[in-house]
Amino acid sequence: MADRDDIKLDYSNCLNEVLGKHDKEQGIFFEELKTLEDKLVSAHNSVTEKKAGGNLGFMELPYKIPDAKKIKEIARRTCGGYENFVVIGIGGSALGNIALQQSLNHPQWNLLGKKSTGNRVSRKGWLRLFVPDNVDPELIAGLLDAIDLKKTLVNVISKSGTTAECLANFFVIRDKLIKRVGFKKYPKHIIITTDKEKGFLRELVNKGEAIASFEIPRNVGGRFSVLSPVGLVSAAFTGIDIEKLLTGAARMADRCSAAMEPAASRTAGADHSGASSYNNPALVYAAVQWLLYQKGKRINVMMPYSNALYGIADWFRQLWAESLGKKLNNSGEVVNIGPTPVKAVGATDQHSQAQLYIEGPFDKVITFLSSEKYRASVKIPSVKIPTDGKKHYLGGHTLNELIKSEESATRLALTKQGRPNCTIAMKEINEDTVGQLIYMLELATAYAGELFNINAFDQPGVELGKQLTYALLGRPGYEEKKKELEEEMSRQKERHVV
Ligand code: PA5
Repeated sequence: MADRDDIKLDYSNCLNEVLGKHDKEQGIFFEELKTLEDKLVSAHNSVTEKKAGGNLGFMELPYKIPDAKKIKEIARRTCGGYENFVVIGIGGSALGNIALQQSLNHPQWNLLGKKSTGNRVSRKGWLRLFVPDNVDPELIAGLLDAIDLKKTLVNVISKSGTTAECLANFFVIRDKLIKRVGFKKYPKHIIITTDKEKGFLRELVNKGEAIASFEIPRNVGGRFSVLSPVGLVSAAFTGIDIEKLLTGAARMADRCSAAMEPAASRTAGADHSGASSYNNPALVYAAVQWLLYQKGKRINVMMPYSNALYGIADWFRQLWAESLGKKLNNSGEVVNIGPTPVKAVGATDQHSQAQLYIEGPFDKVITFLSSEKYRASVKIPSVKIPTDGKKHYLGGHTLNELIKSEESATRLALTKQGRPNCTIAMKEINEDTVGQLIYMLELATAYAGELFNINAFDQPGVELGKQLTYALLGRPGYEEKKKELEEEMSRQKERHVV
């Protein structure tokens, strides 16, 4: 079982008992949360049923240790001949890679030398990582200016194998690679991560156009795939201990399901004594967010006080938005529902966003991501004030103390102004705790889908955007869509532009 102290969710500052009464109550009452017990148990049971039906593959990923071992072995064997690792993918096929890299590797990883010279920090033989997750021509051209493709491994990631952005970037790099190393040698620079059987990318694998290929399980959605080969391969090539990551995720999975054991077997309306849904951090997080949404807190700001965790906030932004933003509920009624996730980083955004959060509209709930320890300690040297020769108050403190004080100050200011906020506190940032955090947020999203009564695992809006792109670019089979689109565009002829 996971040590509860590794990750704690403190939601006290979402409770009216703590926030106090402002113009009106801005938070939730503890009693309100308590009366949700039946709903929470049924949300958990529904997620468990979907898992048992084989539909929630993300819940199986933490236990795929043998797969992680294989990936680690391939990375160890292969990385010697290369300098750079480029991930070509978008959305769920890119954001998790960035989140893992930012949270678990050195903040200036790509600037470090491959091998250590003297006492210098190095990449210990692992590869630099680039994730150009856009089709901005300047981004791709800029990357190609900066790296030597002869020393580069490219991991093309697409679950569908058809996403235009991913394929277009791949075609550009493929062409350059072939010119640089020749067609025969080019597959030595390509890894493909895609569906086991289907899609254009799998066909390329079958034709021998890749040095290695990995499978994305069908029952794992893009935004839930960071603990599958989608996220693990680049992590392994940059020296992250992916087994520990999975073990951490499994510890959180076990903690959440152990919390539900007595409750899950009970039926709605039965005696609730001994209930422990409130020990399940993923479920409590979803429940608090859902209740606050009903009270007009429609924006969920995730604000780590750590640059390392900023990528996690970005990854979560996709997870929460794409999973919960839906037109239809589970009964097919139009509801146009969904919280808006926003990312911020402390202390930087105290000087950009905090004013709005503390005094603006009462429409937000803040989720702080907090680490007790930082992986570096930096002392602020003593400096004399020129005018009176006294020591400046900052001297002798550490940056660690300063950022921690700022975090506490922002939390306090928000709470005093009646702004609900909660904190996911980690003991430290490492593979184990990041694995736990990722799994907790994924499971919370699945639970939130149940509470919002929508399907958290589809993305019809994203698919529509993809289809319209295919139509505009003349993909065969999309002729009808193209006609529709042209008709729509000609209806919108009259533009209002100044
Ligand atoms: O979460 C999702 O399903 C999406 O964000 C996808 O990850 C994204 O659209 C990329 O799709 P694919 O991996 O099929 O290229």
